[in-house]
Amino acid sequence: MDGTTLDAADLPGLYAYPEDLARPWVRVNFVSSIDGAVSVDGVSGGLGSPADELLFGVLRRLADVVLVGAGTVRAEDYRGARKPGYGRDAPPPIAVVTGSAHLDPASRLFTDTAVPPIVLTTADADPRRRQAIAAAGADVAVLGDLAPATLLAELERRGLRKVLCEGGPGLHGDLASADAVDELCLTLAPLHAGGGSGRIARGPDGPPREMRLGSVIEDDGVLLLRYVRARGRALPATSTDVGVDPPIG
Ligand SMILES: NC(=O)c1ccc[n+]([C@@H]2O[C@H](COP(=O)([O-])OP(=O)(O)OC[C@H]3O[C@@H](n4cnc5c(N)ncnc54)[C@H](OP(=O)(O)O)[C@@H]3O)[C@@H](O)[C@H]2O)c1
Repeated sequence: MDGTTLDAADLPGLYAYPEDLARPWVRVNFVSSIDGAVSVDGVSGGLGSPADELLFGVLRRLADVVLVGAGTVRAEDYRGARKPGYGRDAPPPIAVVTGSAHLDPASRLFTDTAVPPIVLTTADADPRRRQAIAAAGADVAVLGDLAPATLLAELERRGLRKVLCEGGPGLHGDLASADAVDELCLTLAPLHAGGGSGRIARGPDGPPREMRLGSVIEDDGVLLLRYVRARGRALPATSTDVGVDPPIG
């Protein structure tokens, strides 16, 4: 497939979620250096570029919910999405996965957001922490466990099917090993980072799953790659696979 050049106006159509989803569609978005580093000095900002930032914003505006692990929220001092989704009045909520509920109630996740964040946790988390983040405005969902099937069932219960997972590697690794990823958007930054940074997924070993290339965009040496699960993912096992593909650029 030939690379295409970046045209901002094309991105919402190119990255549109499949229509009439019958279950949550999990799109994962990461930026990495060409040698696989997922962060520079502990955060992803050093890998950024205008093209990546543009796509990051478009993907948020297309999503019903931004799913992210607590490690990323803490490392990146996450705040709420700012721009309303396409055709909507409000931005998508940030849904944070945390076993510990160790989130600072005074952090930007709670204080700098247009919509309340969703916190996905369990009864094992310290009740005082759960209460503190609920008091800070979070919509706290206490789930039986934080396995990918449980997380996606909770999003489905809320009618949030267009899922954008922004990482980090721990949450991505769990989703990948459970075969819960439909699509991976990977920005390759033209940096040879070296160092000890991890890669974009960290978790239990599992069989590799075949993905097919959906689209490639090149901008100033940055590659915006989009891969889609080749034959539909297995999770949740109870749902019939909807058998839909996003448009191929
Ligand atoms: N390059 C990129 O695009 C990109 C994107 C995202 C993050 N990052 C980088 O990745 C690093 C953070 O990595 P990380 O692996 O710590 O991030 P993470 O996956 O966001 O966070 C891991 C934490 O999330 C919670 N969690 C996630 N999945 C869980 C599950 N299935 N069950 C229970 N808890 C779960 C746990 O939180 P508790 O500890 O609260 O229980 C766990 O410690 C940072 O340096 C960040 O900058 C880079």
